[in-house]
Amino acid sequence: MGGLWRQWRDVLSRLGFANAALDAKWLAAAALGLSNLEMVTRETEPVDDAAALRLAEMVQRRMGGESVGRIIGEREFYGLPFRLNAATLEPRPDTELLVDLALKAIGPGQRMLDLGTGTGCIPIAILANEPDVSALAVDLSGEALVAARENAVRNGVAERLQLLEGSWFEPLVEGERFDLIVSNPPYIESAVIETLAPEVRVHDPRLALDGGPDGLAPYRSIAAEAGRWLKPGGQLMVEIGHDQGASVSKVLAAAGLAGITVHCDLAGLDRVVCAHHIAA
Ligand SMILES: C[S@@+](CC[C@H](N)C(=O)[O-])C[C@H]1O[C@@H](n2cnc3c(N)ncnc32)[C@H](O)[C@@H]1O
Repeated sequence: MGGLWRQWRDVLSRLGFANAALDAKWLAAAALGLSNLEMVTRETEPVDDAAALRLAEMVQRRMGGESVGRIIGEREFYGLPFRLNAATLEPRPDTELLVDLALKAIGPGQRMLDLGTGTGCIPIAILANEPDVSALAVDLSGEALVAARENAVRNGVAERLQLLEGSWFEPLVEGERFDLIVSNPPYIESAVIETLAPEVRVHDPRLALDGGPDGLAPYRSIAAEAGRWLKPGGQLMVEIGHDQGASVSKVLAAAGLAGITVHCDLAGLDRVVCAHHIAA
């Protein structure tokens, strides 16, 4: 079996895939139904024809530009497993900073809202690490919410995560107030999407990418109403593109939010903007 995945590693490497070894190993583990540990301990075992064919088909999809996560239908985020479907974006390591900041801001007995939840990765990671917090998560895609529900069950937080279909705050019940609102909304400029790698342009759902002509439309919608749904002193935290720190800060300030701070990721790039709702 070791020989087989290494052959595919070499093929991917010759084709210029930067992570050829990891890609081939993960695809082989999925095709053979083995854990990472079993990939080592069963290294010398032979592979049956059906599994070898499954692996060949998976590598073919990788060559066509699909990401490994999308091919195997699963991705790890904040140390937890998340199922993907055609309507969900793959949770990305960049988004872990938003979870870190949210975990510092939220405490026992509090309630949070996640707008544009996709796989549910943000609230599920927070609830899994804060046993006494509850969350409401919204997405415009009913299909994405199917994945979020499955992920909430799988990660043991379904009883504390309510899921609603609709646009941003629209499906919420009037009168509810949150301690924290988080969002990783679509933030790519519409015209830029066509210039992105096939992995994103062809295989990621457009609804999860398209932030309108200047990439800021979702931030305007969210900022305009955040104050109405936050408790006094409550916080809004949004993930942003690496060049959006100043523009998103301006959008939040124009909506009357205060104490705005921009936080960088491990690569030193702007990644999250936080703001407070100060009651009038
Ligand atoms: C960038 S993805 C983020 C998904 C997930 N929160 C994450 O961090 O991986 C944006 C999500 O917003 C959802 N979305 C787009 N427009 C929306 C809207 N008007 N209201 C609610 N959700 C929306 C998309 O379906 C997608 O799931």
